[in-house]
Amino acid sequence: MSEQRSSFASKLGFVLAAAGSAVGLGNLWRFPYLTAKYGGGMFILIYIILALTFGFSLMVAEIALGRKTRSSAITAYKNLSEKWSFLGYISALVPIIITPYYCVIGGWILKYLFSYITLPTTADVAAISFGGFIGAPVEPLLWFLLFLGLTILVIIVGVEQGIEKISKILMPLLVIIVLFVAIYACTLPGAKEGLKYLFYPNVKDFTPTTILRAMTQLFFSLSLAMCIMITYGSYMKKDNNIETCVWQIEAFDTGIAILAAVAIIPAIYACGNPSEDLTAGAGLIFVILPKLFNTMAIGKVIAILFFVLVFFAAITSSISLYEAVVSIFCDKKNIKRGTSIVITLIICLVIGALSSLGNGPLAHIQIIKGQDFLTFFDFISNNVIMPIVALGTCIFVGWVIKPQVIIDEVQLSSKFTLKTLFTIIIKYVAPILITIILVTSILEGLGVLSFG
Ligand code: TRP
Repeated sequence: MSEQRSSFASKLGFVLAAAGSAVGLGNLWRFPYLTAKYGGGMFILIYIILALTFGFSLMVAEIALGRKTRSSAITAYKNLSEKWSFLGYISALVPIIITPYYCVIGGWILKYLFSYITLPTTADVAAISFGGFIGAPVEPLLWFLLFLGLTILVIIVGVEQGIEKISKILMPLLVIIVLFVAIYACTLPGAKEGLKYLFYPNVKDFTPTTILRAMTQLFFSLSLAMCIMITYGSYMKKDNNIETCVWQIEAFDTGIAILAAVAIIPAIYACGNPSEDLTAGAGLIFVILPKLFNTMAIGKVIAILFFVLVFFAAITSSISLYEAVVSIFCDKKNIKRGTSIVITLIICLVIGALSSLGNGPLAHIQIIKGQDFLTFFDFISNNVIMPIVALGTCIFVGWVIKPQVIIDEVQLSSKFTLKTLFTIIIKYVAPILITIILVTSILEGLGVLSFG
């Protein structure tokens, strides 16, 4: 195939597109609740260390693999080594599992947005029981279907570029509003305790679970280990500096995630109940933010703005995720785009319906004990498949094709300043650490091990 690949017009274009798809519910919904649950300051410290080492190395490797092979993940591995094409297939499973439950959370965002628009006061929204909402027999399913429907509408009508243009304006606004909420939350009485929890690492929180959660959150948030960055890299121009692009994407993505945590965790101490809320899990932002907005004089306006902007960040990500799944079927099986869209829809409907009803009518069905469907799909994709793909990528790059191939690709455009660090991490550090963490994670998930 000698197809001509289009490229991003500029380096900034590449960074914006990659960061745009990277920033989403991962930063605003997932990072804060994991930070709250798994040790605050220690979680953030581990996250930053991993971002500077693992995240950096893996992202450089994935983008360079894509740029070198000029193909998406499944074909990229295959082009370099027939035996390793399985890695491409496994990585393709991740967006297939994530897309549906991502749309379920997108539905929760819509529910709160509409509640702020339609209910008379912020107190009415603060009075909604989140547990009651997700435990309801049909309501969460309807919000999920609405969010999924909007995602597909954009794809079918083909206005992704329009949405991307709008999101380039909305993204800076999102940063401003999260910053505003963060500053406001920090001024409330009691917030100091939360800031201390957030930025003061406690040695007792240094457990395998914390490292695992930080690592997989890093992958989720940067869209690594899931056949996405390889595809992005395949559209990158040969003269773009991969190393600086990676630093910029990482800095932007991590900055927003930490800011979101500063908006939410101090608020737990100021208006919530730390002993319960810190471990609230997936519902955290929906439990805390309504209470926080209820203390603001112009809470309703801020809340509507906030949820509109989060909605845009979420839908741009869900569009890219959906497109990723569609292109997996198109590329691989030579299936027509229309048919691919329908196959993806069917998968989304099945996994999404299970996820959205898993706290209500389907609560009694648990594949792994103690995990509702959404938690299970999140666990299996993030804590099992993604580490396997990351491990495979490290072994593949470090020992099969050798790091020099990646270094040469990076150096086509610029000097690779951290190539020694890159080589050591990809060859030794990452494979060993990921193996240890993966094994403990699976044992923990199965209930064999427990870290309290
Ligand atoms: N990184 C995105 C977020 O933080 C989620 C995501 C995972 C994603 N994989 C993706 C987005 C692929 C776009 C494409 O919300």
